[in-house]
Amino acid sequence: MKKEKENKLMEKIVSLAKRRGFVFAGSEIYGGASGFFDLGPLGAQLAYTIKDMWWKRFVEHRGDIYGIATSVIMPEKVWEASGHLSGFSDPLVKCEKCGERFRADHVPEGNKCPECGGVLGKEEQFNLMFPVTLGAGSEGAAGHLRGELAQGMFVNFKNILDTMRPRLPFGIAQIGKAFRNEIAPRDFLFRVREFEIMEFEYFVREDEWEKHFAYWQSEMKAWIADVGIAQEKVHEVEVPESERAHYSKRTVDFEFEYPFGQKELYGLAYRGEHDLRSHQEASGVSLSYEDPQTKEKFIPHVIEPSFGVGRTLLAVLCSAYREDKLDGEPRVYLALSPRIAPIKAAVFPLLKNKPELVGKARAVYEMIQKEVPHVLFDDNGNIGKRYRRQDEIGTPVCVTIDFTTLEDDTVTFRDRDTGEQRRVAVSGIIQELSELV
Ligand code: GAP
Repeated sequence: MKKEKENKLMEKIVSLAKRRGFVFAGSEIYGGASGFFDLGPLGAQLAYTIKDMWWKRFVEHRGDIYGIATSVIMPEKVWEASGHLSGFSDPLVKCEKCGERFRADHVPEGNKCPECGGVLGKEEQFNLMFPVTLGAGSEGAAGHLRGELAQGMFVNFKNILDTMRPRLPFGIAQIGKAFRNEIAPRDFLFRVREFEIMEFEYFVREDEWEKHFAYWQSEMKAWIADVGIAQEKVHEVEVPESERAHYSKRTVDFEFEYPFGQKELYGLAYRGEHDLRSHQEASGVSLSYEDPQTKEKFIPHVIEPSFGVGRTLLAVLCSAYREDKLDGEPRVYLALSPRIAPIKAAVFPLLKNKPELVGKARAVYEMIQKEVPHVLFDDNGNIGKRYRRQDEIGTPVCVTIDFTTLEDDTVTFRDRDTGEQRRVAVSGIIQELSELV
């Protein structure tokens, strides 16, 4: 019963995301492509705001983390050295009857196909990296779409040392796309084949790694609260050695209670010196750090906080989704914080067939638009429907121009969560909205 309710909730969130322009299936007019999604205008704006908040918090407002942007495609040598070609795999089983493939660790006990009940074949390892050929013809060199951003940071470690002259501890961050040939993409944005990651490698002295690990664990918690994810639905889980990535010596996953179950949202890993040492050995280039005082040379160790953009967006939507009754009518709304709401305010004339109201509403809209980003004008349908449309996309404030506006130059401000209205002078609108967003 509980499961059915949770499935229904997920269906409602997916449907809202599609209907209101947050998320579309990838290549939808061709029937969709499993594991790929496109962001619509509201989803793209929400993702942009999340990435902007993250970049400001972890790069711009700190002196110790350097932001970079590296190639999506890297040569095979990089992925050989990092261990991704040998170790970045999931266990795969294939049904001998219907031919469907599954992740072995996602199939219920019993060696039976979840689709047709047929017998499942022998488990094998399936590598998740996407190979690409660089250059023309059969002599083209082998490369791979990046399965994680981290390798871009490691192969540029020396460049950062040489150009920025940082002192330990320091970090290298980036935001960008990663690609994994997931065996079974599922659960909407949760497991896809192309997704964005925000992550940094924080380089430390080996004997200080535990202190930095604890610090970043608490900073990740603070970010979760700030971005608008329901904290009570987030659980920190120590990942056992058998389930950790090949590079990790310790991992704590931040798991979120999605409607389809408690699963990973973010990860925090201690990668030791695995990556820098491997690249130093494979490239023949020294990747050691020299202490400016003692002149001691050593390979730093790495703490890595990693945040998926799609999973953030999904957790934000799940945290904000609400159903209630307003004026006796059922409604759906997104209780997004004004800071991340894709539309900050909507401006309406009370009636669309009164030119004096429409003209004044347009003037108010243009005035607000100059100062406050992401403001929308709407005169479609009746005012009740317009309010509901804005509630559904999480717009915090609706500004309505009515007949009283023409008399005393005040408008109504309607609060999304309570539906309550109050009058605000036109001259005070910008200040009120600026304080809110
Ligand atoms: N450099 C470390 C790393 O890539 P990861 O846990 O494999 O770690 C980082 O991935 C984050 O990317 C995860 O915490 C999750 O938020 C997101 N992520 C991983 N695989 C994903 C997938 N198939 N679809 C969507 N997001 C994914």
